[in-house]
Amino acid sequence: MQVIFIGPPGSGKGTQAKRLSSQLAVPHISTGDMLREAVAEGTPLGLEAAPIMARGDLVPDDLMVGIVNERLGRSDASKGFILDGFPRTLVQAEKLNGIFGNGKTHLKVLQLLVPDDAIVKRIVLRRTCANCGAIYHLENNPPAKDSICDRCGSEVVARGDDNEQAVRRRLEKFHQDTMPVAAFYKTKQVLREVDGIGPVDDVFARIEKSLVDTE
Ligand code: AP5
Repeated sequence: MQVIFIGPPGSGKGTQAKRLSSQLAVPHISTGDMLREAVAEGTPLGLEAAPIMARGDLVPDDLMVGIVNERLGRSDASKGFILDGFPRTLVQAEKLNGIFGNGKTHLKVLQLLVPDDAIVKRIVLRRTCANCGAIYHLENNPPAKDSICDRCGSEVVARGDDNEQAVRRRLEKFHQDTMPVAAFYKTKQVLREVDGIGPVDDVFARIEKSLVDTE
């Protein structure tokens, strides 16, 4: 199973991709998580990406294609994967196509539909576990103990780019650069649109249905 999640910031890509990854027992490959790890470790990639991410802009395509190509080549991705946050530009989509040998894949692309006016509230109230990456929301899905991750007991924090200014820039970039990627997959007839509004369980049920419908 090779699944790509496309959607605006805060549409629930990470939330749903983590769940689908554990259900299908294939790795969840999140380019945002990989970049945040690089930033935390202070690697050359992290140092270059940090100010770009803080502004809500996109990290250059060649860097992104390089890290995804390397990650997809690892043995755990050979039976499938859930890609979250990549491809985000037409250049990335074309390069990914090349990595797959120009379309000989079992790729399914799920586009989560969430209107812009719901996004800012989701993101500004999001909290993420600094250790295991579990995702919370202060209203919809708060941790049981204030600021403590239910799963691993580490601190739950706001992401550096989860402020209103950066979110608005990320939304702009989504419409400008990533919507053409959705159109690209639509012409290849592998795109399924999924309503991303409503309880997380309901959205997940729609995702499962749309994956079955496309088998
Ligand atoms: P990335 O980490 O990919 O951020 P994003 O695309 O902006 O998406 P988010 O992680 O903000 O949201 P999400 O859709 O995963 O939502 P979530 O499940 O957390 O990228 C960050 C940055 O890295 C980019 O801006 C860019 O700079 C760089 N980057 C990454 N990939 C790149 C690439 N390929 N090329 C270039 N640059 C790249 O949910 C959000 C909140 O909503 C949570 O609080 C959650 O609990 C809540 N929620 C989830 N589902 C629901 C629901 N159904 N109802 C109510 N609340 C919900």
